[in-house]
Amino acid sequence: MTIRQPIVTIAGHVDHGKTSILDSLRGTGVAEKEAGAITQKISFTLFPAEHIKKGCYLIDKHNIPLKIPGFLFIDTPGHQAFTNLRKRGGSLADLAILVIDINEGIKPQTAEVLSILKENKTPFIIALNKIDRIGGWRKLDDDLKSSLESQSINTKNQFDEKFYILQAALNSYGFKSDFFYNVEDFTKTIAMIPVSAKTKEGLPELLMVLCGLSQKFLSQQLSLGEDAKGVIFEIKKSKAINYIEAIIYDGSLKAGDELAIASFNKPIITKIRSLEEVLPLSDKFSPVRKASAATGVRLQVTNSKDILPGMPFQILKDIKQVEKEFKKQLQQVAETDKQGIIIKADSLGSLEALITLLKQNKIQILKAGIGNINKQDIINAKINEKESPTNAIILGFNVNIEEDSEIGNTKILTEEVVYKLIEDLKIWKLKKQKEIEKQRILGLSTIFKLEILSQHIFRDRNPAIFGVKIISGKLKQKIPVIDDSGEDLNRIKNIQQESKSVEEANQGDEVAISLPGTTFSRQLKDVKYLYSDLSEKQFKKFKENKDLLSQDEIKILQEIAEIKRKKGDW
Ligand code: GTP
Ligand code: MG
Repeated sequence: MTIRQPIVTIAGHVDHGKTSILDSLRGTGVAEKEAGAITQKISFTLFPAEHIKKGCYLIDKHNIPLKIPGFLFIDTPGHQAFTNLRKRGGSLADLAILVIDINEGIKPQTAEVLSILKENKTPFIIALNKIDRIGGWRKLDDDLKSSLESQSINTKNQFDEKFYILQAALNSYGFKSDFFYNVEDFTKTIAMIPVSAKTKEGLPELLMVLCGLSQKFLSQQLSLGEDAKGVIFEIKKSKAINYIEAIIYDGSLKAGDELAIASFNKPIITKIRSLEEVLPLSDKFSPVRKASAATGVRLQVTNSKDILPGMPFQILKDIKQVEKEFKKQLQQVAETDKQGIIIKADSLGSLEALITLLKQNKIQILKAGIGNINKQDIINAKINEKESPTNAIILGFNVNIEEDSEIGNTKILTEEVVYKLIEDLKIWKLKKQKEIEKQRILGLSTIFKLEILSQHIFRDRNPAIFGVKIISGKLKQKIPVIDDSGEDLNRIKNIQQESKSVEEANQGDEVAISLPGTTFSRQLKDVKYLYSDLSEKQFKKFKENKDLLSQDEIKILQEIAEIKRKKGDW
């Protein structure tokens, strides 16, 4: 049985040292060269077996037979947690390394990674990075355990404290964890390996645990099949040529092979024009006749139109069979609700991650798609405005808004962190819900307090027309008004703002109002404030729904009640 390279994803919070650990393993300096030392995109590295031996003296020392041909490492950007790389039935990664800065512990993206790993049931280990930053730490031995045990008491205490706090935190996320050398059953306890990307301590141990886990638990999963299967990573344009970067996770590919690539419609059928494979320990590609899993490839195909990141592909054999399989894989994304929000993400995997989280939060989805937010998405959101206003929103995960889109009043939330996106959505929905509730319960009735602008009297009577400033609340036509001693003054007929008739006006606005049946010089000459008139019943309703009112509105409500009681109306 031929065993392929396990695919190992390196994930974790921003700056916790994912790229640095890979750099130390590879002997490269990628992290330093990155703009702002931030990984922008997912990348893959082929890590051959001879390099594992070089980086892990323990393999020769303990005579461990190395059966795997190496690893395919995938580095992920911490700022977008972990773009969910998926294949049929779970994670594309056979294993994951969760990198945690021991000095910082669990951070938001660490938590996000934990939940995705749990959801996908991906086995993982934890690299507790930056141990060299613990006060007084010195590299005292090549062997991690002896180095740790030889630290000063103070340093050892600091280490222990950080370690136990983290262990307890992981426990609260539902994961049992321990020092790798204490772990008896790796399927039940997550192995933690203290490391330093800087001093390289712990890295041989990390490689050893990875090899051990792969060979012991994954050999079935790692057996190389015949038919090539893979996932599209990215579509890159270079000099008018479209290149497709992809990962092959099973089987082998050659130039000339016919591929079926999943899409939201029919599968895209295309032929491989040229095939390149990623070079070991590098991000460069070189032409090959054949590439076998697991590896990263760059393809040129005869038809690259409509190919989307994250989509699965396979060698075309039986089209009916392929269609059926793709349909199953895209089921979650294709099956949307009758009502709900619009969502967009940069790849199939991130879209699925978003859908999973939205479902956990019981938020319905009307349409889900891959790519930037475009005109059609905005049209779809607008349709919601009437029927279900709390759904009139577009969520974008790792995407932009297309330039020519007219946003207007459409609510759009975009984020690189999926949890933040959901938090923001919840806040927006609550606010919107409150607005709708307020309108439903309080209906046409409104409360306001107006200050009469006595220098702006336009007409004394039939009707009286004069200027007012809205101290607080919302002014609307046809609402009855009282003065500050509770005298009735008829209903407001017209509201004019900057010489235009308006239906309503808000706090701070200065407008002219007309009151038929009121004579200003007789009734309002000495009046300073006007209030909306309320029946006792309306007052009770407002009071019962106090949570829908602003502090200012509550204050006016109290003033109105006092006026009414003083006058003896209530
Ligand atoms: P993103 O890709 O942005 O999510 O970050 P990352 O997790 O890949 O972190 P990166 O490797 O870029 O490291 C972030 C910073 O931490 C850099 O300045 C590194 O030099 C530093 N660093 C990483 N590992 C270690 C370590 O073990 N010890 C010390 N002292 N510094 C480290
Ligand atoms: Mg990085």
